[in-house]
Amino acid sequence: MTEQDSNEDSMENSMSVTRHKIIFVGDAGVGKTTIISRIMDNPFSENYEPSIGVDFMSKNLKYKGQNVKLQIWDTAGQEKYKGLIPSYVRNSSIVFVVYDVSVKTSFDNIPKWINFIKTIENTTLILCGNKIDLSNREVKKEEGEALAQKEGIEFFEVSAKTDENIKNMFYNVVAELPTFSENNPNKENLIKELMQENGVENVAEGIKPHAEGAGGQQEPEKKLNVNGEQKQVVPNNAKKKQCGC
Ligand code: GTP
Repeated sequence: MTEQDSNEDSMENSMSVTRHKIIFVGDAGVGKTTIISRIMDNPFSENYEPSIGVDFMSKNLKYKGQNVKLQIWDTAGQEKYKGLIPSYVRNSSIVFVVYDVSVKTSFDNIPKWINFIKTIENTTLILCGNKIDLSNREVKKEEGEALAQKEGIEFFEVSAKTDENIKNMFYNVVAELPTFSENNPNKENLIKELMQENGVENVAEGIKPHAEGAGGQQEPEKKLNVNGEQKQVVPNNAKKKQCGC
């Protein structure tokens, strides 16, 4: 057992722990691993090593004495690994469906991804357009907004390279988990407190609920699945990833 494991165990023993499963899906190369890496506060890497199978990272969020454990699952975009995804999507709280704004086909495939997830689980879907730092856009922001509106889901555009809107997206979405939202009707305050308690710098910059996301549309009604204990699955990914937990 590592020192980190034992610290984590002792923290879990002394605080009540709630767990949520968050999944990232989307075509190969759209930037799922890189977005997750940014959420875990790791630096950007230009290197592309296609994911193999499914991998996960654990992120602990503290909030008013609670310790909320987020299992963030990174799935491989290549078709040959698609069969692995359903077992991870079951009992998930949130599924991010990601496309690359510079690759039209990755956007065209989004409805297929959404339908695929919907056949597995009635989970909360979030549409995410990545790589907005690139100048060779093939998908306009309005197209993302329109698709999200049609599907009745929230929408964010981000750049995992520059970190633009990553924390904003993450904390906006996580704040909707019942664990946090149940007794906190003021979402803006909740996001601010969550960011502050979890050491996110530039909190004011991060709080733009639906500014980049949802495209001004009304926030759709959501049902979040709250899973309790999740069995641990041995990571099956050749990539070396750091866990910031
Ligand atoms: P699979 O594992 O094959 O499913 O791919 P993935 O979706 O996990 O993509 P990954 O995160 O590995 O990123 C693919 C490539 O895109 C890498 O070279 C990244 O450096 C690059 N990349 C990721 N996000 C961005 C971004 O926001 N902007 C730019 N310019 N490049 C990015």
